[in-house]
Formats: sequence, structure tokens, C-alpha cells
Amino acid sequence: LTLPELEAHLGGLGMNIPIPKFQAVEVLNRPLDIARAYLTDILSNLAECDPDVAYKSIYWPNNIFNGDLVVILPKLSRDADFKTVALRLTQKFKCPLFILPFQDGVHLRITFSSQMLPRFLLPYIYDRLNIYGRHLALGIRDHSSPELERKKLVVEFSSPNIASEFQAKHFKSTIFGAHVACLYESMNWDVVRLNYLGDWGKPIGLLGVGWEKFGSEDEFQVNSARHLLEIYHKIQELFIPQLAASKKIRDEGGDPAEVESQGLFAERNAYFKRMEDGEEQAIALWKRVRDVNIENYTKLYSRLGITFDEYSGESQVSLEAMTEVEEILKSKGLTEEKSGSWMIDLTKHAGKKLGTAIIRDRTGSSTYLLRDLAAVLERFRKYSFDKMIYVVAADQHTTHFARLFKILELMDMPDLASRLQHVQFCDSMNVSQQVQDKLDLMNTMPDEILAECERAIQNSLEKNPEKATPLVGKNDVETIPMIVTNALIAEELSSRRANNHASFDISRIQSFEPGTGLDLQYWYARLCSIVETSYLESSTSLSEEEWESLEQEDEVDLLRLLVQYPDITYSVYETLEPATVLTYLSNVTAQLSMIIPDNEEDGSVASPAHATLYEATRRVLESGMKLLGMNFGK
Ligand code: ARG
Repeated sequence: LTLPELEAHLGGLGMNIPIPKFQAVEVLNRPLDIARAYLTDILSNLAECDPDVAYKSIYWPNNIFNGDLVVILPKLSRDADFKTVALRLTQKFKCPLFILPFQDGVHLRITFSSQMLPRFLLPYIYDRLNIYGRHLALGIRDHSSPELERKKLVVEFSSPNIASEFQAKHFKSTIFGAHVACLYESMNWDVVRLNYLGDWGKPIGLLGVGWEKFGSEDEFQVNSARHLLEIYHKIQELFIPQLAASKKIRDEGGDPAEVESQGLFAERNAYFKRMEDGEEQAIALWKRVRDVNIENYTKLYSRLGITFDEYSGESQVSLEAMTEVEEILKSKGLTEEKSGSWMIDLTKHAGKKLGTAIIRDRTGSSTYLLRDLAAVLERFRKYSFDKMIYVVAADQHTTHFARLFKILELMDMPDLASRLQHVQFCDSMNVSQQVQDKLDLMNTMPDEILAECERAIQNSLEKNPEKATPLVGKNDVETIPMIVTNALIAEELSSRRANNHASFDISRIQSFEPGTGLDLQYWYARLCSIVETSYLESSTSLSEEEWESLEQEDEVDLLRLLVQYPDITYSVYETLEPATVLTYLSNVTAQLSMIIPDNEEDGSVASPAHATLYEATRRVLESGMKLLGMNFGK
């Protein structure tokens, strides 16, 4: 579709052409922008104002019951008498795309004409087909160069710690990060998926001590991951009182050096020092732990349809890069020595909030922060990314990343710092007692969580045979695991990132309410089978009578949702709030259920016009589900 073709199409429907041109408007990607363009033109003429003012008075209501677009009258005209302004506008308002607007307080509500919408939108969607909702220009680095090189995104996600369990926050990061990767890919970015394992540092030192005390080769052979986790729990339990004692001293402003030089504290630090010194035995154990865990994680990832381009990790950060960072810090006079450790007093540079950041501790070991700083330099050299997103829970990491970015600025690398983004989500460890049961579930191994979800979904399918039949079809052995993971994905992404939302709400996972994973997959399957059995004519050659059959209220309401899809995807790209997509898709399936009865026999045949509408809906549904990171068999 080119602009002249689009204009010819609109002209054929009785619209004035050419389409009025305004800066921000993207008529070939967003059908709502076509409406915005015409509306801007009408408003600026009727209200005798600058097109820019008119354009900025147009908003997008979040619910079709409030119109398809809305004009905020005070933004359009200084006249405080909105009634008169609205009246003046409506008296002369004339555009075949819209019905006559109506005033609602300070709003002027704009609604598509039900005669126009199907004829305008369906051919548009059929033309865009696989790129409907994808803003491909977003992924192009430099629009003036003939090569049109794609931008590169590094997205770091999942990043579990190999010494301890795969926690709920890692699960969420996994699903969220995979979604971010899909989203950017669909916008034409070149995406690198990176897993930054917590595979170095003192917790592994503690596990090493635990292994030396409780490790059993035999048990390791039976279930390695389980056995390692048991050891970690045992040793951690012994360690907690000491850790608490040291924290207390620190909180009271004292120096915990004494406490930390004894018992498990000292053993842990010594073990980690052995690792840092490259001692053979310590490294051999570390490698076993790492391999066992990667193997285990990979099973989960492949079940979720995720592959990583790189398993990096804290252990993989090179000594050279860390030295380089330290040298820059020193040369800029940023680091100072304090009772044996090297630190940056960020209060001098960035206000009180960021405190002091330790770069090397008093035993001479590198810190988490130093490794992260060095990792940025290495990754930038390796990938020359335009952007790097860290998908990490908002626990202690909020400050960590704020420090990381600030220090890079202080190192005179503001451009690099500006390419980094921490996309955080609420760590559900802080939730109320009410959801404690679910949290207990999360502390089990991921495969057990999946098994639990699978049981719940099987149960729900048995209780709802009329839904199960079209959803599962003939081949339930292969289909069920995919249905389960997709249901989990929908559940994990259904709340806004800042929400204190506990993961694995089984009651939501097994429900068929609009917008749940089961509901989306059910409707997707229904549409597939209806479209398959119905005669599908090219959308442009429908007869007048057939077009008219789409002018009914429910059909038009569905189209009014479909027209929004590219605006939805754009807003998700800007906000990284996939819950928006889920809310949108739930509106779509709720609307579908108004048109297609639930209990209709499978294999029902739709009219050509309806088949055209369903096929367009199926594509939008599929595109939205893929954007979330859901998988489709085949
Ligand atoms: N392993 C860390 C954790 O589990 C998350 C890693 C975050 N990424 C980073 N580059 N620091 O809490």
C-alpha cells in the first residue's frame, strides 16, 4: 500500500483527497491516524485555529463506549461556553468517515460511521496483513542512509542465581523479558537475548562450604539440582544468625569486621577467595553447579519457547574489563579507600539517595557492582547496541541500577549510560499474607509449578467440555503443554509492572474469563476453524449486500476495536506495559462472544463478509498473542 493507493481507496469511498497532512500523523501504519488527519483539518477550519492546536485537542478514549476519538473542547477553544462551541462545530461538521459528533461536558465525542468503517478498514488490514500493528520504522537506525541499518537491542532477562532457587522474580523476568524481545523484534529491531547468571560471588562461596560439609556424590547423581538446593538451604540456615548479627552492628553504625572474621562468614569469604584465585578444586565444583543449573533452566526456557543468544553471567566478566573500570574511576578521582575497601561516595556527586557504592571489598574481591560496570563495557564492544534493557525486579536493584548508570556518567560515558534502561516490576515477595500460599508454590522448582498449572487446566477443561473441544482439538498430548505455558504467560503479563501482583494465581490461570490465556486461545481456535470452513473471498470484492451485513452494531464495535490495534502496540512499545495488550485482547474476545455464540457447533459456516471480518480478527489476535511471547504449534 502506498499513499496514492490509500488515497484512491478513500476517494472511492467518497472522502476528500488528498488526506490532510500533519506532522505526527502516520496514515500508512495507523488507521486511527487517518481519522486524526481528517478531524484535525475539520477542527482547524471550523474553530479557526492552528492545525497544531486542533491536533493536540484530539485524544484517544480508552473505551469505545466513549467514542473512537474525543476532542477536549477547552484545548480547542478558549471560549468557556463549551455548549456553544460544540454547537457551532456540529452544525457545520461534515465528513463521511464519522457520524455527527455529540457533546458530553468538555468532550466532543467522535464516532466512526458504521457504513464507512468496514469498507475502509478491512481492505486496509488485508493490505497490511503481517505488518498490521508493527511499526517497522522504529527499528531503523538512520532513515537518511540508504542501508537502513536496523537498530540493535540487548535485552538481559531471567538471570537466576545458580546457588539458590529459581525464584518468582526470575520467572517474571523470564516471561517479561521474552515479551520485550518479541516486541522489539516485531518493531524491526535486531535483538540479542542475554541471560546474566548470578554465577559468581559470595553465595556460591557459601554453597561451596555447604558442599564440603553436606555434599553427597550419590545424591548428586540422583537429582543434582535438588541436592544442591538442599545443601544451600541447610548451610544458609546455619549462616543466618551470623548474618543478622553483622547487619545489626552495621545498622547501629558499627564495624562488623570482628563478626565477619569468624565462623561461616570467614569460611564463606575464604571459599569465594579460592574461586577468585582460580583454585582448581573450587573452580571444578563451581563449574559442576553452573552446568547442572543451566541444563535445568534450559528445559524451562525451551518449554516457554525461549532461546538465549548468550548465557553470560557474573563469572564471565573479564579481569581486564574490571581493571579498566577501576583505572578510569581512579584517574577521575572517584574512588577512595576506606578500611580496606574501595568505594565511590556518590553522595558527593548525586545527592544523598545513592549513598556509597563499594567497588572492591576489604578481602580484595570484586563486587557485584564492579562486575556489572565491566559487563556494560564488554557488551557494548561486543554488540554496539543502540539500547540495552535490564529486565530485573524492583528490589534492591532499583538503587543498584541507578548507581550503575550514574557511575557510567561520572566515568564520562553519558552516551553509553543513556542507552541503558532498567525495566523493573514489583517483586512480589512483599505481598500480603493472603497470597502467601501462592508464594510457597513459587519457591518450588519451575517444573513443579508447570505441573501444578497443568493439573489445574486439565481440570478446568474437563469441567468445560464445550470450550475444551475447539481449544484442544484432536491432539491433546501435544497441545496441552503449549496451552499451559501460554496461560501462564498471559497471567504473568496481565498486571501493570508496578502492581503488587503475586504470580501463579491458579484461579486466573484455569479461568476462561475474557483476557485469560485460556480465553484467548479458545477464541483463536474458534476463529481458525470458522475461517477454515468458510469461503474466503478477497475482501475488496464483497457485494454491497455483504458489506451491509457488517454494518450491524456488534460487528461495527468489533471493527472499532480492530482499528485501534496499531495504536495499542505503539503505546506498549513506549510504556513496556503488556497489560495494555491483554486488556485490549480481552475486549476483542468479549466482543467476539457477542457475535459468535459460545455453543455453536464447530464447523459452522460464516458468510463471506463475516469470514473476512473473522480472518482480520484472527490475525490481530495472533499478532497480539505473539507480541506477548505466546507460542503457536506447528
Ligand atoms: N541475579 C540477579 C538476581 O537474581 C539479577 C541480575 C540482574 N542483572 C544485572 N545485570 N545485575 O537478583
